[in-house]
Amino acid sequence: MNVTVIGLGYVGLVTAACLADWGNVVVGSDRNRQRLDVLRRGEIPFHEPGLDALVTRNAAIGRMRFTSDAAVAGADAVVVAVGTHDGNGGWQTISMQSCLEEIVPRISTGTPLIIRSTLPPEYIAHLGENVEAIRTQAGRSPIPVLLNPEFTREGSAIHDFVEPERIVIGTVHDPDERGAARLKELYAPVTAPMLNMSAMDAAFAKLGANLFLATKISFANELAALCDAYGARVDTVVQAMGYDSRIGAAFLHAGVGFGGSCLPNQVAMTVEGGRRDGVHTPLLEAVEHINHRQRAHVVTQIQQMVGSLAGHRIALLGLTFKPNTDDLRDAPSLTVASELLRAGAEVVSYDPMRSARDQASRLVRGLRVVDDPYAAMAGSSAVALITDWPELLAIDWRRAAAEMDRPILFDGRNALDPDELMDAGFVYAAFGRMASWRHAGDRIYAFPIAASVRRRVAEVLDELPVLPQHRLTTIDSA
Ligand code: UDX
Repeated sequence: MNVTVIGLGYVGLVTAACLADWGNVVVGSDRNRQRLDVLRRGEIPFHEPGLDALVTRNAAIGRMRFTSDAAVAGADAVVVAVGTHDGNGGWQTISMQSCLEEIVPRISTGTPLIIRSTLPPEYIAHLGENVEAIRTQAGRSPIPVLLNPEFTREGSAIHDFVEPERIVIGTVHDPDERGAARLKELYAPVTAPMLNMSAMDAAFAKLGANLFLATKISFANELAALCDAYGARVDTVVQAMGYDSRIGAAFLHAGVGFGGSCLPNQVAMTVEGGRRDGVHTPLLEAVEHINHRQRAHVVTQIQQMVGSLAGHRIALLGLTFKPNTDDLRDAPSLTVASELLRAGAEVVSYDPMRSARDQASRLVRGLRVVDDPYAAMAGSSAVALITDWPELLAIDWRRAAAEMDRPILFDGRNALDPDELMDAGFVYAAFGRMASWRHAGDRIYAFPIAASVRRRVAEVLDELPVLPQHRLTTIDSA
């Protein structure tokens, strides 16, 4: 099939490359000439494992080419994947609207227009009329219009495209179902269930999935706060919960919270849109609130352990919103870095992705970036692990402790082994793994913070000299 894909960001480029690899002839179109130049040189404008090989292979055999003009005439299917993120935590539909105005008049009658971008419900509600009006104005008959939301995760986007768990097909306009038949033909190599539904159902099937994932993460983070209060360990707790098939273990990992281009802005925009349209969404408001609280918690915990941050150097390890991407959109690291700087600290950071380091230093004024994790930690009064890149989990912590001014670590991803870190000489803090902190002489001790438990701790604190270093979690049972 001849397919044109408009918009060569994460979603569009992955879609184009995978469709080409399935044997289709794909034209990828983007208005951004710089991006096209990069692609034509055989490079990928962002980091996505395996994508460069897929693009190179298919471009070499003529199944994939790139152009700035939206070459839709003659295509058997037109896929639109233009960005709808406004770069500021919200949605924008200007790119989508101007793209539709440009391409819709030129699409051959009978060729389906397949929209993969995530759009706000109020835009979906008028999408059918919108496309029809553009066609009528151009003096052309209607075309099939379908939504085909993507469920791809950055870092595993190719796997998620070629082995999806379901394909959702939302009908905007497809009276004889020929558009849907052609879309199903495109997905012929896939064995996953194909679910046909209305356009609004499809939009909410996508939105609902992301809102639920965000809710699971904030739930785990709320649980972590309770674990801190009462002296339980959240990892053990969610592991036991995850065995329950009604719950499942995925997306229950407590930490600094969710970032990226989808989860934070879709929660925020749903709350905001609901408010405008008179729908109260208290659960999602709480999800958002908890997610912000996680970022602030890293800073307050470091302040508790270090004292005033003025003049102290703090190291940040990991800048991208998760490993295996160079994406900094709504990355927790940026908030944490800004707050630490505001508290007077000098912040030195490292991320395995060079492009992320360069971009972060431009985005956060005063943030220093270095090209080695040990250089970030040397002379620091504390270090915070923000992204669980494998390279960062493999750090030689004994060496790091020896080179730091004060070996204090906040594990923002609950990704390190507390015992190993404490054996290496660190004061270790995380989410729901240890409790709160108290200075006693030159030592710092952790203890549960709930008042009912604290009374017992206060008694034991008097006996501190006999306690093993930094292991006050054992104090409760002492
Ligand atoms: C997400 C959806 O998963 C995907 O289906 C959709 O198409 C786009 O949005 P992505 O943004 O790539 O994908 O990231 P994802 O892997 O979902 O992680 C989102 C954030 O949640 C990351 O910051 C991650 O670190 C965080 N997270 C994830 C947690 O804090 N805890 C978890 O248990 C899981």
